[in-house]
Amino acid sequence: MVDIYRTTYDEKGAGHYVAPRLAYAYLNIGLHDASRQIVDELMKESPNDWRTWFLHWWLRGTEEQDRKSRRVNSSPHQPRPTMISPALTHRVFPTAEAASEALADEIAELIRSRAAEGRQVVLGLATGSTPIRLYAALVHLHRQGLSFANVVTFNLDEYLGIERSHEESYWNFMHFSLFDHIDVPPENIHIPPGTTPDEELDAACAAYENAIREAGGIDLQVLGIGHNGHIGFNEPSSPPNTRTRVMQLNERTIRDAANAFGGAENVPKRAITMGVGTILDARRIVLLAFGESKAGIVQRALTEEISANLPATYLQNHPDVTLYLDQAAAPR
Ligand code: PGA
Repeated sequence: MVDIYRTTYDEKGAGHYVAPRLAYAYLNIGLHDASRQIVDELMKESPNDWRTWFLHWWLRGTEEQDRKSRRVNSSPHQPRPTMISPALTHRVFPTAEAASEALADEIAELIRSRAAEGRQVVLGLATGSTPIRLYAALVHLHRQGLSFANVVTFNLDEYLGIERSHEESYWNFMHFSLFDHIDVPPENIHIPPGTTPDEELDAACAAYENAIREAGGIDLQVLGIGHNGHIGFNEPSSPPNTRTRVMQLNERTIRDAANAFGGAENVPKRAITMGVGTILDARRIVLLAFGESKAGIVQRALTEEISANLPATYLQNHPDVTLYLDQAAAPR
C-alpha cells in the first residue's frame, strides 16, 4: 500500500495533499493497516502537516476504542479544576487527547439535549493544529450514532485571498477534518468567505454577524490561542468591542503559518475574523491549549491584567469560560 502512495506521491509531485486523502480513503473502507502505514510515513516526512495529525488521531481512536472505554471508566487521572484568575477556570488533563475527548463529550451532550427538545445548537469552531483531536473525537462519536443534524456552525476565521480549494484554507481544513465525515447539513455550515473582493468585505463581515444573530447566537465557542495571545485572528491591539472584520496578520502569526504555506512569503497577510466582541457574546467558551510552547502564553492569559496587548485576557470578562489544557501547557 505504501508503494501505491509512493507512486502517487512521485507521479503527482503532490504527496502532502494526495497521501492524506489516500490514507483517508483506506480508512473509510476499513483498510486500517494500510492507512496506518501511510500515516506513519507522513509523520516522519511532514510531522507538521495537520492532515497527518488528523488521520493519526482518528486512527488511534479506531485502534484504541475498546481500551479507551475501559480507561475512561477507571482513569486514576481526574482533571483538576484550578483557579488563577477568578474569572478563568482551567482544567488540566493528563493528555491533549483526554482534554479533546472531554470537550467532545460535552459537545455531544449539548447536541443530544437540544435534539431531545427539538432545538438546534450553534457551535463556534476553530482551526489550527489544536482542535484536530477534538474533531477526530467528534467523528468517532458520529460513527457511534451521534447525529449533527441539529447543529449550526460558525467558524472563527478564514484567510483572505485564497480559494476554498487551497490546501491551507480553513474551509478545506474544516471539511477534511470534520464536516466531510458527519451529517451536519451543508447549509448550516458558515465559514467567513475568504475570496470576497475588497469592495464587498464590509458587507460580507456584516452579513456574517447577522447570520450569527439570526441563528440565535453561539451556544459554545471552541477557541485556540496563538503564541502571541490572539483569539481567532484578533491580533494584539484588538479592542474588546470588535465585530467580524478584516485583520492584518501579525508577524508572529505569519511565522507560525510559514511551514504550512511553504514559506512566510506565501502566507496570506489578511484574514476575516470574528471580532473579540463576537467571541465574547458566545454563551460558553472552551479554549484548548496543548504543548509546552503554549505554557507561557496560557500563564499570561490567566494571570495578566486584561489588555488589548493580549486579546486572550478579554476572556476574563466572560462569565463562562474554561481552559482545557494538557500537562505541558498547564501553568506551573
Ligand atoms: P494552533 O493555532 O492550534 O495551530 O496552535 C492556535 C491559534 O492560532 O489560535
